[in-house]
Amino acid sequence: MKTIIEPFRIKVVEPIAMTTATHRDLALKKAGYNLFNLAAEDVIIDLLTDSGTGAMSAEQWAGIMRGDESYAGARSFFRFRDRVAQITGFEHILPTHQGRASERILFEIMGGPGKVVPNNNHFDTTRANVEHSGAKAVDLVVDVAHDPKNRAPFKGNIDIAKLRSLFKEVGADAIPLVMITVTNNSGGGQPVSLQNIKDVRAVCDEFDKPLFLDACRFAENAFFIKEREEGQGDRSVSSIVREMFDLADGATISAKKDGLVNIGGLLLLRDDAVAAEARNVLIMTEGFTSYGGLAGRDLEAVAQGMEEVLHEDYLEYRIRSTEYLGENLLAGGVQIIEPPGGHAIYLDACDFAPHIPPHQFPGQAVACAMYRHAGIRACEIGSVMFGQEQPPDMELVRLAIPRRTYTQSHIDYVIEAVLEVHADRDNLRGMRIVEQPPVLRHFTVRFEEL
Ligand code: F0G
Repeated sequence: MKTIIEPFRIKVVEPIAMTTATHRDLALKKAGYNLFNLAAEDVIIDLLTDSGTGAMSAEQWAGIMRGDESYAGARSFFRFRDRVAQITGFEHILPTHQGRASERILFEIMGGPGKVVPNNNHFDTTRANVEHSGAKAVDLVVDVAHDPKNRAPFKGNIDIAKLRSLFKEVGADAIPLVMITVTNNSGGGQPVSLQNIKDVRAVCDEFDKPLFLDACRFAENAFFIKEREEGQGDRSVSSIVREMFDLADGATISAKKDGLVNIGGLLLLRDDAVAAEARNVLIMTEGFTSYGGLAGRDLEAVAQGMEEVLHEDYLEYRIRSTEYLGENLLAGGVQIIEPPGGHAIYLDACDFAPHIPPHQFPGQAVACAMYRHAGIRACEIGSVMFGQEQPPDMELVRLAIPRRTYTQSHIDYVIEAVLEVHADRDNLRGMRIVEQPPVLRHFTVRFEEL
């Protein structure tokens, strides 16, 4: 059979409010053309993020009822700890309320003024936490990542030569750790190869530095390794996941992605001394070590989700459905970052609306047009998000796919809508900022249409 179906059936449904273009036009004006300002009820298909927006399974909901809410030593914590230990092999497993809390704790301990942290691409909260500690965040992704049309299989890889020259330039003493984001969200959801993780590990060993994974989408990355990397095709995804984690000294994870939950995070460590320090910070700002800012029921849901995400029929459907969206847009003449990533499709807004210059925010214009035309909410990742200091090298619109939430007909609707907006692209108008905050402007900025 050629069709890969959703490997689940639907037990609970959440109605979608169908709105008219006139209603959405008004909502858009009220929101100052900022899609973060929309009420979610005014959205038909919400592709703003794949984070915390997925559907939980019957077993996860059963876990919610089983949750042990004891302050210390809850049964749910041990179930969570044992499951995570079995999947990742880490000695120290700290629950946090979400990924950025793990990042904050890690960089409070390992960051600091004068330090430099390399990564393929820092996600924006990771960068913010590195910089908040006083350290500098440096992105060292391979050059092909910047070419949307290049179909290299592992565009999330770190450029080893760039990593070596950073060590030379700033000196090993300035580098507290090396980080790799799997998959590389900011670079289009592109995977990192096992070989690249090994090569980075070798550099870390040479300079005696720990390697950390930002492993939010660890299962999607491992599936790509199985599909694309030479010699990996016959392995189970679980064994690839384990090898990825075995190569690292620690990991920060947002369970809101491949943990298949709506809230939760993890900080995984091997070093006893770092773990002791991290537990102290955890207690001070998140919660006791056996719940870390989560309820017992949340820990149950994460334990179950981390196991379900490794089912290969799930991953095959997941990666294929993202690819289906991407390949259909490409076939209809819409340039995306190729090849399609794991959790999202990124439209190339410069190609979509070449008549709108970056300072008139082509990505925002495309995102607003998709909302007005069909009620689809996507996220601009370009001059609005990153252009406050210097223009970014790409103007993108991210269509992130929540896990197990939308069916193929929802995705067919998205494809149709994007192609219709694209057919009418000559009528897209640029935007002008009328109000903005000094930092992280994309959340609250307001625009008007030119
Ligand atoms: N690292 C990566 C690679 C991420 O994609 C995210 C979140 C985080 C860390 C932070 O995790 O949200 O649980 O605190 N990404 C979401 C997104 C928000 O839309 O891409 P968090």
